[in-house]
Amino acid sequence: MPSIVETRLTNLDFWERPQRERDELFAALRAVEGRVYCPLSEGPGFYALTRHEQVSEASRHPEVFSSQPTAVSVIDPAPEVIEYRGSMISLDDPRHARLRRIVSRSFTPRMIQRFTGDVTVLARRLVDELADRGPCDFVKHVATPMPLQIICSMMGIPDSAYGDVIDATNAILAIGDPDYVGPDGKDRTTTMREKFSYLHALMADLGRLRREQPADDLVTALTNANVDGEALTDVELGRFFTLLVVAGNETTRNALSHALVLLSANPDQRTLLLSDMNRRLPGAVEEVVRYASPVTWMRRTLTRDYELQGHVYRSGERVVLYYNSANRDEAMFKDPHTFSITRSPNPHIGFGAPGPHFCLGAHLARREITELLRELYGRLPNIHATATASRQRSSFINGIKSLPCAF
Ligand code: HEM
Repeated sequence: MPSIVETRLTNLDFWERPQRERDELFAALRAVEGRVYCPLSEGPGFYALTRHEQVSEASRHPEVFSSQPTAVSVIDPAPEVIEYRGSMISLDDPRHARLRRIVSRSFTPRMIQRFTGDVTVLARRLVDELADRGPCDFVKHVATPMPLQIICSMMGIPDSAYGDVIDATNAILAIGDPDYVGPDGKDRTTTMREKFSYLHALMADLGRLRREQPADDLVTALTNANVDGEALTDVELGRFFTLLVVAGNETTRNALSHALVLLSANPDQRTLLLSDMNRRLPGAVEEVVRYASPVTWMRRTLTRDYELQGHVYRSGERVVLYYNSANRDEAMFKDPHTFSITRSPNPHIGFGAPGPHFCLGAHLARREITELLRELYGRLPNIHATATASRQRSSFINGIKSLPCAF
C-alpha cells in the first residue's frame, strides 16, 4: 500500500484552525489505506498513527515502539536537554520499569488518598474566591492554581515558589507559543535550559532537606531508600519532579478549562450533570478527557521492522500516536464528535493506551477534575464561558490560554 504525504500536521497554523477543521483532516487520515508520512524540514519525518487500534497496539508493544530517545518531541533532543528531560516518560524498560517501580510505590492510591482532602479543600477555596471576584479569566484564577498547588503541596514546595514554578512549566511546554517564551529575547534552548535548571535546583535543595529532616511527604518517600533499598538519586528526583510539574499541571489545567468550554457549549449536558451530580460526574470527567484529549500525541521509535495493522514500519522509523484522533475514531465510538457525559462504554485513551507508560497521574487528575466540577457546578450552576477560548499554539498540548467566564 503506498504511503501518502501529509504536511499539515507539522504546521503550527493547522493546530490553530477550528476544531471542526482539525477533526475533518483526522477523519480523512483515519480512512487512508496506506501509511501517512509527515516530512520535517529539521530531519527525518514521522508516520502518523490515527486509528484507535493502531495507537493501542503500538502502546502494547513497547519493545518494538520505543519511547527512547524521546516520547515528547518529533525531533531528537539536544544532549543538554536529554540530560534534564530524560525522565521515565522517555525511557524503556528496564530503566523505565525501575523508576516507575520506585515512584509508583510512593504514588499509590493510598498516598493520593491522603491528598484527596486537600483537593476538596482547594476546590472549595478556589470557588469561594471566584464567587467573590465575579466574572474573570477562568484559566488564570481557577484552572491554573488547582493542579499546580496540589503537586506543589504533594512535593512539599513552599508557596513562595509557586509563581516561578508555573512560569518554568509554561515555558517548557509551550516553546512554540510566543506568548509564553521569549519576551526577553532568549532563544528556545537557552530558555529551556534555564527553566529546567531552576526546577532541578529547587528539587535538589528539597531532596537534601528531606534526607536530613524526613517528613510525611512524597519527596521524603522518593529520596529515602525503601524496602528493596531503591531510592531516586538527586538527578532522578529532579527529572521526576520536572516530569510531574510539567505533565501534571498543564494537562489537568487544560482538562478543567475544556470542561467549562464543553459544558457551556452543550447546555443539555450541563442540565444532565446538574440533575444528578454524584451519578453523572464520573462519566462527565471521562468524556471531557476523551473529547478534549489534553495531550494530543506521544512519539515512539521502531526498534525493528514490524507489521502494524497491515502496514510494515521499518526499524528506526518514527511514529506519532495521535490520541486526539484515536479518541474520535468512528470505529470505536458512536457519534464520536458528540460530547455526551453518559457515553458508555467510553474506551478513550486520553491518558495513553494500556501499556507501561500509561499516565501515572490519571487517578489524581480524575480526582481533581471531579472535585472542581462538583464545587463549581454545585455552587455556581450557571457558570459559563462568555467568549471563545484563546488556544495555545501547540500541536502537542490542546491548551487554553485564557477563557472569560461569568455566572
Ligand atoms: C487530564 C490530565 C492528564 C492527561 C490527559 C495525561 C495524559 C498522559 C499521557 C497521554 C501520558 C503518556 C502515555 C504514554 O506515553 O503511553 C501520560 C504519562 C504520564 N503522566 Fe499524565 N496526564 C494527565 C495528568 C497527569 C498528572 C496529574 C500527573 C502527575 C501528577 C501525570 C503524570 C504522568 C507521568 C509521570 C507520566 C509518565 C508515565 C511513564 O512514562 O511511565 N499526568 N499522561
